Amino acid sequence: MRCLLTTLAALLGGQAAMAGDDPGEALFDKHCAVCHQPGGSGSPGFAPPLAGALGQRLQVEEGRAYFPRVLRGGLSGPIESKGQRYNGAMPPFAATALSDAEAATVLNYLLGGLNGALLPAGFQPYGADEIGALQGRPVAAGDNRKLRERIDALLKNGPHAQPLRGSLPPEGAALPALPPGDGPAMKKGG
Ligand code: HEC
Repeated sequence: MRCLLTTLAALLGGQAAMAGDDPGEALFDKHCAVCHQPGGSGSPGFAPPLAGALGQRLQVEEGRAYFPRVLRGGLSGPIESKGQRYNGAMPPFAATALSDAEAATVLNYLLGGLNGALLPAGFQPYGADEIGALQGRPVAAGDNRKLRERIDALLKNGPHAQPLRGSLPPEGAALPALPPGDGPAMKKGG
C-alpha cells in the first residue's frame, strides 16, 4: 500500500513539474491533450500527432492561416500525418471556449514549443488580432482540409521558404491557384 502511494505521489509530482509555467502548455493540456495527448504526441488512428509534425507548413504563406482556421473551424475528412492515416473530426473551438488571446497562446505553444525545430526563420508568434480576424467568417472543416492539401502540394513543389506576412488572407476568398510546376508564383512580393 505504501508503495502504491509513493508511486502515485511520484506520478502526480512529475505531472505538476511537467506542466511548467507556459500558459500555452496549460491551455493545451486543458483543451487539446484529451485527443492529441500531452506534448502533442497524438493517438494513432484517432487524433494526429502535433509535435514535430506541423511547423514546416509555415514555410508557405497559406500555412499561416491554416492553424487559426483549424482551431476556429475544425478539420474533418481523411488526412495523412507522419505516414499514418486519420479520418476523424477535429471540433471547432468557438471564442466562448478559447478567447482570441487564448487561441493565440495555445497556437504559439503548438508551433514555438512543439514544432520549434521545423519553423522557418523569422517566425512571428500569433497575436489575438490575427485570430479575431476570423470572427464571423465561415471556416468549414472540409475547406480546411482542402487548404491542408494545397499547402502540402505547395511544399512538395519545391523550397518555398519565405518571410511570413503578419495577417491572414481574406477568409472565404477562393484559394489561389497552384503555381504551374516550378513557377515563380511563390516568390514573395511584399
Ligand atoms: C475531440 C478530439 C480533439 C480535440 C479536443 C482537439 N483535436 Fe485537434 N484534431 C482532432 C482530429 C481527429 C484531427 C484530425 C481530423 C481529420 O482526420 O481530418 C485533429 C487535427 C488537428 C490539427 C491539424 C493537424 C494536421 O496534421 O494538419 C491541428 C493543428 C489541431 N488538431 C490542433 C488542436 C488544438 C490546438 C486543440 C486544442 C485547442 C485540439 N486540436 C483539440 C481531434 C481533436
